[in-house]
Amino acid sequence: MVAAIPPQPLVVLISGNGSNLQAILDSCTSGEINAEIRAVISNRPTAQGLERARAADIPTHIVNHSDFKERRNFEIELEQLIDSYHPTLIVLAGFMRILTPTFVNHYLGRLINIHPSLLPNFQGLNTHQRALDSGVKEHGVSVHFVTPELDGGPVIIRATLPILNGDNADTLAERAQTQEHIIYPQAVKWYTEGRLALHNGQALLDNQPIVQLEKKFS
Ligand code: GAR
Repeated sequence: MVAAIPPQPLVVLISGNGSNLQAILDSCTSGEINAEIRAVISNRPTAQGLERARAADIPTHIVNHSDFKERRNFEIELEQLIDSYHPTLIVLAGFMRILTPTFVNHYLGRLINIHPSLLPNFQGLNTHQRALDSGVKEHGVSVHFVTPELDGGPVIIRATLPILNGDNADTLAERAQTQEHIIYPQAVKWYTEGRLALHNGQALLDNQPIVQLEKKFS
């Protein structure tokens, strides 16, 4: 008899609604991803995602950034909490704090993020409005390894969608999130299967550099 592979321990960091947390959680529950979310940590006490975690009996923690004068002290508390769960992967799911290189390097290669644009375009905030204002015809979302450069780490997978006549930031955000809920669980699945790695600053899938893995949606 072949022994079952134990589920990989994950820690998810959130700041808000937690719909990406929910998508990953659902994939773990259904068995699509062989992983277990050991803890959900929020920097905002009122984050709706905390309720989602509680509903699934996942331990939750709040590390409120406004309780700390120094960014680094906030991160030290965060690190101690994360490390106490021994996660193989740390998933940033709408975690809206800038992280120092010290924090990022501590988790290099096992820290991933989802960003609402086709990286490397539109790093930073207000991505949907900026995409509209720029006149691009195509927009999307990206999952990437986190490196010290803000929103600059190697892309793992992107999903594209066309910008339609009459789109505004809200309609784009809604369609973009539908895509996020597909590609983020996919990236987590690859990682937990040991297929995805960060090597010498490059994202590898099955030991091959990831050139462009894109899903197209209309
Ligand atoms: C997502 O759309 C994600 O792309 C974005 O926050 C949202 C969180 O939604 N992340 C960033 O902007 C990071 N720079 P959720 O809380 O419903 O998962």
